This record gives sequence, C-alpha cells and structure tokens, in this order.
Amino acid sequence: MKEAEQVLPRILDFTKSLMTKVLKEGDVAIDATLGNGYDALFLRQQVGTTGFIWGFDIQETALKAAIGRFERQFPNASNHSFVLKSHAKMREIMGEEAVGSVSGVMFNLGYLPGGDKTVITQSGTTISALEQAIELLRVGGLLTVVAYPGHMGGAKEAAEVLRFFTNLPAQTGEVIQYQFLNKQNPPFLLAMTKK
Ligand SMILES: C[S@@+](CC[C@H](N)C(=O)[O-])C[C@H]1O[C@@H](n2cnc3c(N)ncnc32)[C@H](O)[C@@H]1O
Repeated sequence: MKEAEQVLPRILDFTKSLMTKVLKEGDVAIDATLGNGYDALFLRQQVGTTGFIWGFDIQETALKAAIGRFERQFPNASNHSFVLKSHAKMREIMGEEAVGSVSGVMFNLGYLPGGDKTVITQSGTTISALEQAIELLRVGGLLTVVAYPGHMGGAKEAAEVLRFFTNLPAQTGEVIQYQFLNKQNPPFLLAMTKK
C-alpha cells in the first residue's frame, strides 16, 4: 500500500524552512545548543564560506563531535567558532560589536542524542540565553527554539520558555508556535522574528 505523503512538516524540517527564508550567504548565525553539530552544519550551508557560525555547548563530547563533523565537511575552514561554554555566556563571549548583527539563532533544547540524558538544558540559563539571543539578533533576524516537554525535566523548561515568549512585548518581535497536538507530550517550535 502506498504511504500517505507527509504534508505537515516535521518540527525540525519546519524550523529549517523558516531559517532558510532568513539566512543568506555572508550572514552570522548561532547554534546555541551545538550538540552533535547537525544544526550548525545546516546553518553553515546557508551562510556559506563568507558567513560565520557560533556554537555553544557545555559538554566536551558534543563539542568534539561537532568539530569533527565540520572538519570532515569543510577541511581547514575557519569561519566558525565552537565554544565549550553555556549559551548564557554568548553575549559576553561574542562581544558588544555582535549586538544587532546576527541573522539566525537556533536552540534545540534537551539532552545530547546518544549522550548523557541527565545533562539537559535548564530553564534559568535557557531564558537568560534567549534574552541575549534577542539582543544579538538584527532587525528581521529569526530565533527558533524547539522544546521537548516529554523527557525528564523537560516539561518545566518547556512551560517556562512558552511563558517567556507569550509575555514577550509585541514591539520586540512576532512569535509563532508550531506543534502536532494529538501525540503524547509532543515537542513544539517557538519562532520569533525581531522587529
Ligand atoms: C538536543 S541537543 C542539540 C542538538 C544539536 N543542535 C545537533 O544538531 O546535534 C541539546 C544540547 O544542549 C546542550 N546544552 C545543555 N545545556 C546547555 C547550555 N547551558 N549551554 C549550551 N548548551 C547546552 C547539551 O549538552 C546538548 O548537547
């Protein structure tokens, strides 16, 4: 029997389709939760050789995986910086000159796939990093957050992130939520374009 076509995009596919609309060759983008480097690779493909990718993660395993992936894909490339630090330090690390210069920021919350499931993003640092990401974004820039209420500790963070965006002043930007509803503890995307 023929399988039905997937008309409604999967969350990560939808996230990437929005990013693709915003990012152009030469842009600066951030993967705030670098993990294994797949999302950073996607961002790098959008901004090309003249763009720049920042990546943050608190786990050395993640950083090594992402660095290895980039070295294999783009040998000798120097237009990325992956930092073994919390995303809550992104503004301090990127510096004052980065404020208002970033076109896209991705957060993919939770734990490292294939890694230690007890090391997860935490609402306090996540919210602080989101505030910084909004400052770093240029007008028209896009911030995406995929939250996972289904894993241990994920529900609290997902609820707080949802509250943060629900209460975001309308003059800061427009926010949407995307989620499959009739699944158990479905993940959701929150996406914001800066005004
Ligand atoms: C779902 S994974 C990210 C997936 C990744 N973007 C990819 O393409 O493979 C979440 C990552 O967030 C990281 N993380 C947890 N707390 C963090 C923090 N405070 N700052 C930055 N990264 C953090 C975890 O170590 C984990 O690697």
